[in-house]
Amino acid sequence: MKQFNPHFHLLFLFCLLRLSITAASGDASGDSVSVSAGRLSDEEATYIRRRQLLYYRDGFGDRGENVTVDPSLVFENPRIRDAYIALQAWKLAILSDPLNLTGNWSGPSVCDYTGVFCAPSLSDPSIRVVAGIDLNHGDIAGYLPEELGLLTDLALFHINSNRFCGTVPHRFRDLRLLFELDLSNNRFVGRFPAVVLDLPSLKFLDIRFNEFEGRIPRRLFDKDLDAIFINHNRFVSDLPDNLGNSPVSVIVLANNHFKGCVPTSLGNMSKTLNEIILMNNGFRSCLPPEIGLLVNLTVFDISFNELVGPIPETVGSMVSLEQLNVAHNRLSGAIPDSVCRLPSLQNFTYSYNFFTAEPPRCLAVPSHDDRRNCLPGRPSQRLAIHSNVKMRKSRKQL
Ligand SMILES: *[C@@H]1O[C@H](CO)[C@@H](O)[C@H](O)[C@H]1NC(C)=O
Ligand SMILES: *[C@@H]1O[C@H](CO)[C@@H](O)[C@H](O)[C@H]1NC(C)=O
Ligand SMILES: *[C@@H]1O[C@H](CO)[C@@H](O)[C@H](O)[C@H]1NC(C)=O
Ligand SMILES: *[C@@H]1O[C@H](CO)[C@@H](O)[C@H](O)[C@H]1NC(C)=O
Ligand SMILES: *[C@@H]1O[C@H](CO)[C@@H](O)[C@H](O)[C@H]1NC(C)=O
Ligand SMILES: *[C@@H]1O[C@H](CO)[C@@H](O)[C@H](O)[C@H]1NC(C)=O
Repeated sequence: MKQFNPHFHLLFLFCLLRLSITAASGDASGDSVSVSAGRLSDEEATYIRRRQLLYYRDGFGDRGENVTVDPSLVFENPRIRDAYIALQAWKLAILSDPLNLTGNWSGPSVCDYTGVFCAPSLSDPSIRVVAGIDLNHGDIAGYLPEELGLLTDLALFHINSNRFCGTVPHRFRDLRLLFELDLSNNRFVGRFPAVVLDLPSLKFLDIRFNEFEGRIPRRLFDKDLDAIFINHNRFVSDLPDNLGNSPVSVIVLANNHFKGCVPTSLGNMSKTLNEIILMNNGFRSCLPPEIGLLVNLTVFDISFNELVGPIPETVGSMVSLEQLNVAHNRLSGAIPDSVCRLPSLQNFTYSYNFFTAEPPRCLAVPSHDDRRNCLPGRPSQRLAIHSNVKMRKSRKQL
């Protein structure tokens, strides 16, 4: 049976503390621990301090939970027993479950637990194994214990829109069948969870709306994935130039702090890429002309960046394009006529730039937005003087 562990509420508190203090003191020496919600006793503070040291010293061992299995429990098969250990450890690592989703996570019938899905094993179809977890929109707070690595038959792991904090367990690397990983809209922190790159079956990676930070590993783009969603994190730096090696159909990098150029290798994604969203980063320089090779791209959004120069003529070759958004950059020059003649273009948004000419054809695109440019005779343009100053600046940057 599961053991009650009195340290969990502390651990969770610590999770919250780490998020709310956010580097206020680099070593977070427990002395200054004071929580608005209540006061910690010295003993608790000492515990947190010790726990924190352990936490940072040993990411492998320290986060395991101590689940003991009552010998009287009868399990369908050994893998269900392993799943029981994993799920009980997880239950111990959950500090708040307002919808009571894990309320019936007890007993040996793990396939009946809310959010747990079983299916015949791929290697032995005569037995059932845990093939999926779906706790989406659970509002659960806690963390992911290392024991989750025992769920070796897992194909889907969806915990979107919860309050899980901490990092992704190292033992996730044991999830050799994991196909879809959705950790989005939680409170995960730290570097890009490199363990996901070791999952041989992974196709769908969604870690958006967390607090991951640092650089994106090059290996991400060498991996055979179908979809990458890493938007709304704190990733920084240039995109690795092997971006074009990625066979994804959808990639969303929006709302991070990427900068530098859009890699020219982008053109190598023409066979597979349908959608790329780069909005709200710090991409500079111009768009590479290779972008024109993306003949299967339907959605391209690079709005809210710092692009300068003209839209490359080659954009007029992106024959599948339906949505094109280049708004809120420092683009200039004339819009190429070929862009506004793209056969499937439904929405062309190019407001808040410094364009000086637009072919009449552009006004025939079903939805278009040309406000706040330097377009003669068009309404809602920038003041002439503003346009001239910015234009000169933009040219200098080229
Ligand atoms: C786990 O529980 C067992 C049995 O109660 C105990 O002997 C062991 O010290 C515990 N381990 C940890 C790391 O707490
Ligand atoms: C949560 O669910 C369990 C099992 O369904 C039930 O026994 C328990 O009373 C519930 N707790 C709350 C707070 O609703
Ligand atoms: C847990 O709750 C779900 C949903 O209400 C139900 O389908 C399932 O049978 C319950 N499982 C157990 C072990 O009680
Ligand atoms: C595209 O792929 C080819 C062949 O793999 C490679 O030679 C070329 O350098 C790549 N192009 C870019 C721009 O990376
Ligand atoms: C990509 O576009 C080309 C040309 O429009 C088309 O022939 C091909 O079927 C498309 N491929 C996919 C995978 O959509
Ligand atoms: C066109 O795209 C812009 C930017 O993404 C969006 O704000 C606008 O609502 C879209 N227009 C239509 C009619 O979908």
